[in-house]
Amino acid sequence: AGYEIEAQSRSGYRLRRIPDRLYPEEVKKNLKTSWLGHVLIYLEETSSTNWIARELAEKGCSSGAVVVAESQTQGRGRRGRFWHSPSGKGLWFSVVLRPQVEPFQAPQLTLLTGVAVAQAVKRFTGLPVGLKWPNDLWVGGKKLGGILTEIKAEMDAVEYVVVGIGLNVNLENSDFPEELRGTATSLLLSLNKKIPRVALLQEILRSLEKIYELWQEEGFDPVRRAWKEASCILDREVEIRSGDGVYRGIALDIDGEGALLVRTGEGEIRRFLSGEVSLRVRD
Ligand code: BTN
Repeated sequence: AGYEIEAQSRSGYRLRRIPDRLYPEEVKKNLKTSWLGHVLIYLEETSSTNWIARELAEKGCSSGAVVVAESQTQGRGRRGRFWHSPSGKGLWFSVVLRPQVEPFQAPQLTLLTGVAVAQAVKRFTGLPVGLKWPNDLWVGGKKLGGILTEIKAEMDAVEYVVVGIGLNVNLENSDFPEELRGTATSLLLSLNKKIPRVALLQEILRSLEKIYELWQEEGFDPVRRAWKEASCILDREVEIRSGDGVYRGIALDIDGEGALLVRTGEGEIRRFLSGEVSLRVRD
């Protein structure tokens, strides 16, 4: 399994090296959460951790179950895009949650998870991570990670939510396909050093549990404040693709439900519940 053990006759054994693997025994050891990640499924390779988490949720797993994989063959991004997930280089994992909220509030979980990951990465590495509404983690103008939230609900109640998190941790430039090299980055590339993935995953799970509990107890307000602090789009000129329209304007705020408010050229304030934002660079 990659553990290096030295044996010496008559004196015993010594553990020389722990492998850089996300084994559940390692992740659960010293994990400072009360419930999140206590059920943890580890897969060397899978299609998509979101799929496996969904199957688990359908079978009735408890809220807080986590599926983590070293690599994904069909990692999925938003809008049906492929999510590149090379083995042993990133954190590719999904969390099953069963929040007591109405379906329209579920997208807040994407924003909440963004805050949790940004805060954990900042605490762990010192690197400030920007949040680009609704689901992107951004560093130095490039994409560091993303969140894919999927929901099963009745009209008035959420059955479960699967929050999938993809974070480029120790990818070198050559680990990215050529078409992503200009737009994607990793912690390794930003900090010039390798990051221990187990400890970072533990920090993210702790951060996620804390902010999720705050959200369940106090609602979206404290999350909204934290999101605004970490945002990299507010007060900036953005282009947003939503439905079949493309709108331009200044990103003003997110409202009490998590929708993005944009002042368009005509001075009108438009509210977006979904969409794809890009930052506009003036020449
Ligand atoms: C995006 O920015 O488009 C969202 C990317 C989400 C990727 C993660 S990796 C773990 C989980 N499993 C998936 O197939 N997707 C999410």
